[in-house]
Amino acid sequence: MYRLVCIECGKVNNEGSYTCECGGLLEVQFEDVEIDFKLNGRDLSVWKYRCLLPVNRDPVTLKEGGTPLYEFSRNLYVKHEGANPSGSFKDRGMTVGVTKALELGKKAVACASTGNTSASMAMYAAKANLRAYVLLPSGKVALGKVAQALMHGAKVIAIRGNFDRALELVRIVCERMGFYLLNSVNPFRLEGQKTIAFEIVDEIGVPDYVILPVGNAGNISAIWKGFKELEKFGLIDDLPKMIGVQARGANPIYRAVRDGRDYIDPIKNPETVATAIRIGNPVNARKALRAIYESRGTVVEVSDEEIVNAQRELARGGIGVEPASASSLAGYRRLIEEGYLNGDEVVVCIATGHLLKDPEIVLKICGRPIEVPADFDEILKVL
Ligand SMILES: Cc1ncc(COP(=O)(O)O)c(C=O)c1O
Ligand SMILES: [Zn+2]
Repeated sequence: MYRLVCIECGKVNNEGSYTCECGGLLEVQFEDVEIDFKLNGRDLSVWKYRCLLPVNRDPVTLKEGGTPLYEFSRNLYVKHEGANPSGSFKDRGMTVGVTKALELGKKAVACASTGNTSASMAMYAAKANLRAYVLLPSGKVALGKVAQALMHGAKVIAIRGNFDRALELVRIVCERMGFYLLNSVNPFRLEGQKTIAFEIVDEIGVPDYVILPVGNAGNISAIWKGFKELEKFGLIDDLPKMIGVQARGANPIYRAVRDGRDYIDPIKNPETVATAIRIGNPVNARKALRAIYESRGTVVEVSDEEIVNAQRELARGGIGVEPASASSLAGYRRLIEEGYLNGDEVVVCIATGHLLKDPEIVLKICGRPIEVPADFDEILKVL
């Protein structure tokens, strides 16, 4: 059994709401669940953990989850969420969110997006036969993501404004038009994303740290909730520390934690090469700060250069990710440098999205292929 509870005032809300009338974020709370899965490292997928997912009908699924967890170096694991159907962790949330849209009788879904949310939503809406509407910050979304949203049939609208403005607008659009909002303010989406925690524990047990990029701050909140639920239902005894990574030009949560605050000061003009986390006013800040403080973790900021270096390092180790995703490893490297970590801890870095999402940045970093006449001697010259 589950209820939708306000994290600020504790009021129980109905399933159709996104936030409480007090303005607080909502959270799904489970009680009296009969756990029917085994943490045995087998058959990982989002829906393995269905007894802890708040849906009451057959799921709209594209076989999301079950992503590879690589041991990148001693004690350092990378969970490659780019291996999901649309190439990012968002699919874990969308399978639940789009299922909920059908359950609530919605005919259309909508989101604002830095790209991956729109790609994933469009894909699952296509599968569910729902109309999909997307608001993007014009010129600031990686090409691969726009391509996905378009091809899967969403109506894609680029606004002359940033992501934070797009989110404000799509909330109004949803309210006026009756569309189902699938940004991470939607508590059901986060329920799907908590399965990242379940899969990590399923495969290697509880790590000491989980490190991940933070944009709108939904994923860090979701993963923490996943660990806490496993503890609540007696499946684990320990909890990891949650470490968020933000780009230096888009770092409101970093600043809040640095100053010991439990609220953020929004950043007006966020900027970073990692467009997926180019967000100045993260909607889930309150949940994320709770996750960080409760777990006794931290937030680290990294430069665009550190992000790109980490992207190369992962790629050379056989793991192709987009810039935002590489910020986890960039954060890990920085924490080692600062002496916060010493390399003996078991750490899982979440690689949130696939390399192919942002081909343009790759050409900027690596340059274009060398072009030569179709002749052996010419090829020999450049080998
Ligand atoms: C690749 C990637 N990494 C990280 C994030 C940040 O996730 P969240 O907004 O849940 O903090 C996003 C969000 O769009 C993303 O696309
Ligand atoms: Zn409330």
